[in-house]
Amino acid sequence: MTRKILLTAALPYANGAIHLGHLVEYIQTDIWTRFQKMRGHECWFVCADDTHGTPIMLRAEKEGVTPEQLIERVHAEHARDFAGFHVAFDNYYTTHSDETRHYSEDIFAKLKAAGLIEIRSIEQYYDPVKLMFLPDRFIKGECPKCGTRDQYGDACESCGAAYAPTDLKNPYSAVSGAQPVLKSSDHYFFKLSDPRCQDFLRQWTQQEERLQPEAANKLQEWLGSPGENKLTDWDISRDAPYFGFEIPGDNVESTGKYFYVWLDAPIGYMGSFKNFCDRKGLDFDEFWGKDSTAELYHFIGKDILYFHALFWPAELAHAGYRTPTKVFAHGFLTVDGAKMSKSRGTFITAESYLAQGLNPEWLRYYFAAKLNGSMEDIDLNLEDFTQRVNSDLIGKYINSASRAAGFVAKRFGGQLLHAHSNERFHADLPGIAEAAEEIAGYYEGRDTARALRRVMALADQINQYVDRNQPWVLAKQEGQEARLHEVCTLLINAFRLLTIYLKPVLPKLAQRAEEFLNVAPLHWRDAEYLLPPAHLINGYEHLMQRIDPKQIDALIAANRESLEPAATQAAAQSAVPPAPTIDPHSPQRHAQHQQATAPSPQPSPAGGEGANGGAFAPMIGMDDFSKVDLRVARIADAQHVEGADKLIRLTLDLGGETRNVFAGIKSAYDPAQLVGRLTVMVANLAPRKMKFGLSEGMVLAASDTDGKSPGLFLLSPDSGAQPGMRVK
Ligand code: 2FM
Ligand code: ZN
Repeated sequence: MTRKILLTAALPYANGAIHLGHLVEYIQTDIWTRFQKMRGHECWFVCADDTHGTPIMLRAEKEGVTPEQLIERVHAEHARDFAGFHVAFDNYYTTHSDETRHYSEDIFAKLKAAGLIEIRSIEQYYDPVKLMFLPDRFIKGECPKCGTRDQYGDACESCGAAYAPTDLKNPYSAVSGAQPVLKSSDHYFFKLSDPRCQDFLRQWTQQEERLQPEAANKLQEWLGSPGENKLTDWDISRDAPYFGFEIPGDNVESTGKYFYVWLDAPIGYMGSFKNFCDRKGLDFDEFWGKDSTAELYHFIGKDILYFHALFWPAELAHAGYRTPTKVFAHGFLTVDGAKMSKSRGTFITAESYLAQGLNPEWLRYYFAAKLNGSMEDIDLNLEDFTQRVNSDLIGKYINSASRAAGFVAKRFGGQLLHAHSNERFHADLPGIAEAAEEIAGYYEGRDTARALRRVMALADQINQYVDRNQPWVLAKQEGQEARLHEVCTLLINAFRLLTIYLKPVLPKLAQRAEEFLNVAPLHWRDAEYLLPPAHLINGYEHLMQRIDPKQIDALIAANRESLEPAATQAAAQSAVPPAPTIDPHSPQRHAQHQQATAPSPQPSPAGGEGANGGAFAPMIGMDDFSKVDLRVARIADAQHVEGADKLIRLTLDLGGETRNVFAGIKSAYDPAQLVGRLTVMVANLAPRKMKFGLSEGMVLAASDTDGKSPGLFLLSPDSGAQPGMRVK
């Protein structure tokens, strides 16, 4: 029976690069899609960029582009990265689309008609300088529990405490540095606490294995027992300024209220599919209509279970749409047993992995070998990665073909035995063809780890067959021609079966194997038979390189955002590394600072005299100098600071990240003249809380330290330099 299946993977935010952590999910979903397609089912895999919200709006502003321009650029980058890892979406769309707007408005209107939307006034922190309400992540301050400074408004990274932004001590806006004020405003709420939602979710989450057992337990905990009213209403609106869809008022007048990004994000699954249906002539309602019998699966990370297993089904059910068949959550990725880290070089972007010339199918194989359908975290152990790929893929799978291919080409003109029998194959290599359904069952259950273990056990069996029959010995013996031909024919057939079993994970390698085997694209049912007698195969070219451990070293080095990244590398990456900071109060910092801001024109002995800068600071070595992370910065904004005589507030763009810096240059510069020009900043100076806000670094300026000659001269790089480039 042909199944109708619609798959989604979580929509990545349109303001950051795809990294290996993201790829776990897209590779997992892609493998499942490819498997279902190979099984002959009608299966569609859709996704989109998640384009709305405050961070994207602010990011665009910092880059000096419109949000539309930003999301368009990022969309192209994401599409490129996914294609690079052979993630084959049927549609990769955007939530900033007419379709997503349509379904957002439609669902909102239906929930409203059902009495599940309520307007309530709430009090929130407001940035009086930036004139906007601040999301929790944009409010910083001292942790109310342990006092650590510069903690976000929702949780402390130091002691782990969770709290409300209003609990922070000495809060400040991470956008402007201003002290936020409390202000009230009307918000729309989705009434999740309504008994209809609670009752519905209680039965929905516990039925038909919709969720993995760990997830179902979590949901049980969130829902509490019947009668307990544990769910709280969900705030689904945000005030202008916001990048998103404006919520229509009753007479479609402007409300100045926008749908919160998490309201329209999952609706983006529908938007993407609708866009696909319209282009392909498919019936959207067959998949999303209330009575749809199609299967709908969402692959997600375990961190967004709440959105997908509570809000989303409750919304759909009460707006007249079908609900997901199942939600599949996976765990997080660690690298070498730890959280991905920029300073260790393990925060690896998809782009850099490919740019280093690493084969995407190595990673697909490794992730698949680790994923078992549970919510456990998976670890990319780099040594194991190298060892496993080399041993399984090259040592076992590829070897089974390469050991026979040469003889078939040279001795038999590329032709397989003209009269081999299926019986002989099944007798000599028992279980290889018979394993097809067992392996399919593992794929179906998303236990790719088990599927691959099974395939590699078969590959071991094939290689033992090679060792027992020693084709290279047969090739030298008189009268063994027919036996050699038979052994090689069996091996090529065995390799073909392994190729079918590995194809969902290794689509490009399988394609090359199909060319070598001279066969049409393989489907799962092709495992039911062998190649016909006298089949001609093509010349064998090596199918995959081994991983050289040096390539992994180079990858880590390229991603290590320590104190010494190459200037070109820093410029190539859109985000500037948070390099280790130097204590602003240490004497060492002052020495470095002086050396950096007033470089001597020529090498000069310690204690020497510069023309206008006074005595030179004591001599330091390269090591000390390189601790200072100097970067080219673009002055994105410059403002007078109310009440400060000497300061200008600079917003510095480091090519993807911005910093707020208070610079004592008011005596020499008019803020308006500064906007747009490039300068040089110390990017790893520990942030300093000033009366007017937080200063996150410093810009470099030359001045006469004795104050004899007036003037202050902001440094500028030569033209061509790009924000974020390292200065050395
Ligand atoms: O957590 C995230 O990265 C979100 N952008 C995922 C959205 S998934 C779906 F709901 F759209
Ligand atoms: Zn704390």
